[in-house]
Order: sequence, then C-alpha cells, then structure tokens
Amino acid sequence: MRYCYQSHHGEKRNEKGDKGPNGVAASDRRIRLGTAYYPEQSSRERWALDAELMADAGLSLVRMGEFAWDELEPAPGRFEFGWLEDAIDVLAARGLEIVLGTPTATPPMWLVREHPDVVPVAADRHRVGFGNRRHYCPNSPPFLAATDRIVAALGGRFGADARVRAWQIDNELGGRCWCDHCRTAFQRWLERRYETIEVLNERWGTAFWSQRYDTWEEVGLPAPDPVPADGFSRRAPNPGLALDFRRFVSDSYVRYLRRQSELLRSLVRPEQRITHNLMGFDFAEIDYAALGAELDFVSWDNYPLLDPTGSWTRPALSADAMRGLKHGEVWVMEQQVGPLGWEYVRTPRRGQLRLHAYQAVAHGAEALLFFRWRTARFGTEQHWFGVLDAEATASRRYDELCRLSDELRRLNVLDDAEPDAGVAVVYDYDSRFALQVQPANAALAHEPTVHRWYAALRRLGLGVDAVPAGSDLSAYSLVVVPSIPVIDEPLAAGLSAYVEAGGVLVVGPRGGVREPSGAVPARGTPGWLDELLGIEVSDIASGGDRPAVHGLVSGAFAGWFEELERVDAAALARYVDGDFAGGTAISERRHGRGTAIYVGGAGDDAVLDSLFRVVCGRLELPVFELPDEVELIPLRSHGERLMFVLNHSDAEQRIGLSNGVWRDLIGGAVSDRFVVPKFDVVLLRPEETGLERLVAEQAVVEAAR
Ligand code: GAL
Repeated sequence: MRYCYQSHHGEKRNEKGDKGPNGVAASDRRIRLGTAYYPEQSSRERWALDAELMADAGLSLVRMGEFAWDELEPAPGRFEFGWLEDAIDVLAARGLEIVLGTPTATPPMWLVREHPDVVPVAADRHRVGFGNRRHYCPNSPPFLAATDRIVAALGGRFGADARVRAWQIDNELGGRCWCDHCRTAFQRWLERRYETIEVLNERWGTAFWSQRYDTWEEVGLPAPDPVPADGFSRRAPNPGLALDFRRFVSDSYVRYLRRQSELLRSLVRPEQRITHNLMGFDFAEIDYAALGAELDFVSWDNYPLLDPTGSWTRPALSADAMRGLKHGEVWVMEQQVGPLGWEYVRTPRRGQLRLHAYQAVAHGAEALLFFRWRTARFGTEQHWFGVLDAEATASRRYDELCRLSDELRRLNVLDDAEPDAGVAVVYDYDSRFALQVQPANAALAHEPTVHRWYAALRRLGLGVDAVPAGSDLSAYSLVVVPSIPVIDEPLAAGLSAYVEAGGVLVVGPRGGVREPSGAVPARGTPGWLDELLGIEVSDIASGGDRPAVHGLVSGAFAGWFEELERVDAAALARYVDGDFAGGTAISERRHGRGTAIYVGGAGDDAVLDSLFRVVCGRLELPVFELPDEVELIPLRSHGERLMFVLNHSDAEQRIGLSNGVWRDLIGGAVSDRFVVPKFDVVLLRPEETGLERLVAEQAVVEAAR
C-alpha cells in the first residue's frame, strides 16, 4: 500500500494537547468527518482494515444501509440484520458512530414481482423498469406497507443502540409518477385543498376551453411536461392543474418522509436524530422548506464537479440554501471525494478535495461524510471514485483526507463559528413550480436567476443566506428576491413589513404575476406587490434585444424587460434605447423606514454589480474587490470576526488587506498580505486588538499578477 495511512497508523490522532499552527490545542468538539460505507459490497475480512484506516484518517462517522433492502430483507418479512450488527461492531470498536439509512430507495425484485404497481409510471404512461434505483411510487399502497415493515423492523432492532447516532430516511427523494394510485391520491389532495369541485373550477378557470369538472373522479393527471425548448406546445395543460400536480408530488414525498420519521420516532431513542440527504439548491421537485420541517437536522449531498462549468458559486449557493432551511445544524451527508460520473468521468484537480471540503465547512457544515469509502468494483457507479481505489488500496485522496482531518482537528476556532450574513436571497418553491409550468422566457428561469443574483452578491465578498419565501427576514439589512412570480397577500404583507421596519428589498422581474391558483391577479401586475413597489408593469418585451439602462445603476437587460409606469416611485435607472427608451427600468420607493426596489428586466452582471454596490454603499455594508475565482466567506465565532479566503483558480492569488494585520489560522502566517496558492485556502483572524473594527472598512484584495 502506497500512501500515508501506513505512517499515520499507530499515531494517537485523538490525543489532546498537540498544538496547531495557531498555537491552539486541538479540541474534541470539532467539525466531524465521515464516509459512506457499503460493507455488503465487500468481504467481511476487509471490514476491520477499513475501520482501522477510517479511524486512522480521523473519521468518526459512517453512513450505511441506505441501499441494502434486499440484504436486510431478502424475502417478505424475513429479516437478516446479523451482518449489519457485525459491521457496526467492527466500526464501533474503532470509535466510529453510525448513521443508519432506511433502504427504501431500492425496492427489491421480490417486492416488484409481487406488486408491480410499486413501480412508478412515467409521464408517457409506461411503467418504469427494474434495475436502477428510486423505482417506486410514493403513493403505492403495497409500497407503503413494505416501507412500514422494513422501517419498523430496523427501528426495533437498532433504535436502542447507542452506537447509532442518526438515521437517514431513504436517499435523495424525488421523481414524478403518473400511475393510477397517484391519480386517486391527487383527487383526494385536491378535495382537501378546495373542499368543493366548484371552488376548484373557479380557481383553475375551467370556463376556459370547457374544462369544467362535475366530480373529483373526473380530474386526471396533467399531460407530460409541456414545454419544448422553443417554448411552444399545443398540449399545455391548464396551468392551475399543472401547478397543483407539482405541489401534490412534492407533498407526496413530504408525507412519505413523515410516515417513516413518525414510525422511527416511536421506536428509537431520542438521541438518535433523523435526517434526509437533500440535493442542494438546484433540485426543484420537492419543497425542501416543507421537507426540512420534518427533520431534526438538514443534511445534503455536495458534488461541486457535477456542474460542468465548475463554478464555485453553485456549491456555495447550495450550502447557503440548505443551511437556510432550518438555520440549525447542517451536515454534508455526501461530499465529493474524487473523480465522478456515471457513463463519463470528470476529474477534480489536485487540492480540490480539500478546497471543496473547506468551502462546505466555511458555509456552516458541522460534519462532512465523504462519498464513498471504496470505489465500487461493480455496479452503476464505478466512475464515482471513493477515498480508496476499487482494488481497496489507499490513494492520493486518502492522503489529502488525512491532511484535511489533521488541520480541522486543530482549528478549534471553527467549533462555534457561523457564517455571518447580512444579506438574504429569497427563493420560492411555488414560484419554481409555476415557472416549470410556464417558463415565459429562458431569461426568467428561477434557478439560474437566483444563482446569478447570489453570485453577484458573493463576488462582492458579502456573506449571504439563501432562504425560502416566508422566512423571518428581520435580521438582514438587505433582502433580494430575484424570481417570485407567485405571491399571495400574506407573503406580500411580510415583505412590506420588512421594508417598513427599515429593510432594503430588491425584487426581480415578473414578481407577483400569478396568484397561488395560477391565475393572473385581478389587480394587475406586480400583483400584491404593487403598493409596496409603487409601480405598474404596463408592457413587456422579450427576445434578442439588449436595451442599455443607465442611471445610478447601469448595464443592460437581456432577454426580458418591462415598461414600468411609475405610480409612486423614483428611477434608479432608465432605458437608454429600445421601445421603452426614456422610461424607468429600475424603480425605487421609500416605504416606512426602508426602500423597495424593482428591477424591470433580466439584468446582466453589470446591472447586478452596480445595483448591489449602490445599495451596499447606502447601507454601509463593506464590499471587497475580488478576483473572479476568489471566494471570501465572513464568519463569526464568539463575537470574533473571521474570514475564509478560498482560491478556486489554478493560479496563485495575492491578497492585500488594507485594514491591518491578520493571522492565517491554517498556515500560521501573520501579515497584511497573503499568497494563496492555487486551489488553496486561508482562514484569517484579525491579529491586533482593535482591528476588528477595521473589517468593516473597505478591504482591497488584488488579483494575482
Ligand atoms: C448521490 C447519491 C449516492 C450516489 C452519489 C454518486 O446522488 O445519493 O447514492 O449515487 O450521488 O452518484
């Protein structure tokens, strides 16, 4: 075996008292590391060595079991938990704690054979085959019965086991189904929502095209996803029906998760906490705010390289959004460790394992479990590399992990550190669903729009929380809502109260253009936001034009822009050219002690950058001049300010801080200038007393020469 674990072996890594470069003793309360482990996929003889290597690398958490339904219950009602007990014994003997997965993402063949209606039906109405995973319908009665049986058995057997620290329910819930069980469940769901069929007819506007229903049983599932890339389909369903179907699917999973969590809670000790591994910001099928409410803590799966552009802002947004679901403890349940892919492979650069892990930690993760321990020798994920190679030898990745683990153990300062965010980006699941039904224009797509606004804020070095609509906003001096077509009266009232109390609110185009039913608001657009924003949208334009906008804020709108009739607002920018030349492009209105701003088009990066600079200047929020590939994350620990600076580029970056002398708690240097090697990181703390104040001043960060 080639790599460092041999030399680490035997060292007492958990011994307290050794000093890190910051001169601080290592602590027991620290960021925890762990891994996903599949003992059922390797020989028993191997388990002890795996446990030893894990402990040697400083890991303390192991997740298991989430795909092992067939190994745990090889025939209906016949449970074989002995191997799992044995694996837990072996791991626990090395001090590793267990996260146990309920294995419901992988219904075994015997269940599918006995109950073919466990398997979901695709939008084109063909039944999905066996041979992958997630091949179940969350509304299928035989599937729910089988779920109850395996979850009850697992909870009964391991619920009192002190070595089991947490439960992960299922694995990455998601997938839409069009089966008859779903159709019936949808009808019951609609009945609960609307109470009478007349109300449904009125809300959906079924007078249009003679779509009126007399009974719930007549309501079907909407036709397959309607929207081809060019935006025109003659089969588009009633938008109210399509929107409610998406809500229903989301609710089906929330209900399914609740079913498992309630059962587990009735069987397990309260110390065993319940979570689910969510899929980050971009997953738009399930209302994660509702799902998160069912969990004891949020965990999520972080694969920065899944994004082909490799942009650092994408995993950053996911981390901030997952943290924003509950504002409590967050774990990364799966952290990318190496090359990844199913059919094709994408590889990380040297140093990115550690850099990506630091990014997750900087954004608030308290535990990182690397996916996976050993690269699969067989099965669909041979290209998804683990800490060890497929032949079970340690790899360079094991070395990088050892180094990370050593460093984190010494960074006690992170134990109580939290991301320090004065800005919130608000996103919204109802709006995402509505835009899936009627995208209107590619320039308005929810996820990319939220992402661009978030990235523009982060490029200024601002600490940002990403929170679902309806969250408490009172802690933020600036709140931006890039994409919120669906607004009801209470949501608008909440935003209005935030501004009235002194907040600055920035709303993106098409805000408030739909009621929750999917109808256009009778009061016109921007719907319930009209009074707060003080504008009316009097015309819209889409297409290839890029009208320039100019004023305190300047740049261009691309793909979508609106004519604003100012009822009661000032202009932050006006159209320079195009059909709306001379008119207001970005409006602002004082309301109470705060300000409400409306951006009447899909602003390019120049618009977003200048807008946020203007607003931050007024709010005296410090902004930084950062090279594109440098990420700055402000944190707070016991009232002390810290700054992570991550270099996501493959060139060295030089950082000059105009505000005093800082200490890099990872490397140990003390200076006002730092060289951050490629794919590397510094964690800075003001070194001189009184310098904390200076963090609030403008800092200058230079690009590499
Ligand atoms: C996650 C999933 C894991 C594994 C990993 C890599 O989405 O939860 O089970 O499949 O991706 O593909």
